[in-house]
Amino acid sequence: MPNTESLKADFPILDRKINEYPLVYLDNAATTQKPRQVMDASRYYYEALNSNIHRGTHALARAATETFEQARHTVAAHLHAAATEEIIFTAGTTDGINLVANVLALSGTLQPGDEILISTLEHHSNIVPWQMLCLRTGATLRIIPCHDDGTLDQAAFTTLLNERTKLLALTWISNAFGTVNPVVAMTAAARQAGALVLIDAAQAAPHLVIDVQALGADFLVFSGHKVYAPTGIGVLWGRAAVLNSLPPWRGGGEMIKEVTFAHTTYNDLPFKFEAGTPNIEGVIALAAALDYVNAIGLEAIHHLETRLTRAATQALSAIPGIHFFGPPERASILSFAIEGLHHYDLGTLLDQMGVAVRTGHHCCQPLMARFGITGTTRASFALYNSEADVHAFAAATAKVVAMLR
Ligand code: ALA
Repeated sequence: MPNTESLKADFPILDRKINEYPLVYLDNAATTQKPRQVMDASRYYYEALNSNIHRGTHALARAATETFEQARHTVAAHLHAAATEEIIFTAGTTDGINLVANVLALSGTLQPGDEILISTLEHHSNIVPWQMLCLRTGATLRIIPCHDDGTLDQAAFTTLLNERTKLLALTWISNAFGTVNPVVAMTAAARQAGALVLIDAAQAAPHLVIDVQALGADFLVFSGHKVYAPTGIGVLWGRAAVLNSLPPWRGGGEMIKEVTFAHTTYNDLPFKFEAGTPNIEGVIALAAALDYVNAIGLEAIHHLETRLTRAATQALSAIPGIHFFGPPERASILSFAIEGLHHYDLGTLLDQMGVAVRTGHHCCQPLMARFGITGTTRASFALYNSEADVHAFAAATAKVVAMLR
């Protein structure tokens, strides 16, 4: 079990007071705070290595390139990828999904009448790029419905799969409700039907061990900033055979082998999909963040967060008129509504007492529409949260309820 108090010391921002109250940061599903080790990695890059990569012959360029490519190894090992070349650096989950959508459009994989399958639980970033792809190709977007408890309807999923299904794009963990989808079984079923599978691991990466080979999907995407790394860096993992069969999307430096005015030949993986100077600092800091998380252990982190999510659920259960969204076993996310209280008012008053939560639709408007709501209040936990945070959050929520009722 991680010692939360000693871990907290790694995160300087957690010492801040908000409105005279100690900060209780429970908006981790939106973004996590950064430990000193990650900020030190960024600083080290600028203080000791700053240079462009894969280009220069000078010492700094060689050192920066080596550190950058070492980071790619760290990510590959973290995801249990079969090869380091399967790791493509992106700006984040949204960027990774858009990359896949665009290369699929260019590849001619989709014809009118083909289907892309997503679920009711998806974030806008795993909906809109596919709608845009459908507009470009004439494919149709199909939606796996969910039950009232926020789990996906597996019988409907099985019925929706057919020979026209070309892609399943599925979130592993719902950012809005915390539902953990049975991604291994759903991936296997979709691949059996002949579809490609993309897993949105934005919410899974901070909480679960990811083994892409055991998962069996074709693509997996996540963002660095939700796993204690800076914003603006993310990862697309792709099965090498699939990535090799797809054309590049963005053209520019680094993604080429040879350019003439008449013709360009493209570079090998992973560079084919990494045009332009990448976010070198972000990549190096991402590796530091994964090292940090792995030194604690994702199983231990998951265990702690599950305990806190359960404790918070129990602490809030006493509030009359409270409704929790998602199944009883959720991953680190507690999404709820209280009868007679607007989530925005609750969020604003919690902030007055130093408690940071997210309110609103969580970039999941279709999911909110499915439940006939405009939004929820969402508390989400990370490795530095403690029982004391849960108590402060529950006490502040009870105070707001007493105030507004
Ligand atoms: N996807 C992020 C969230 O759920 C921004 O808050």
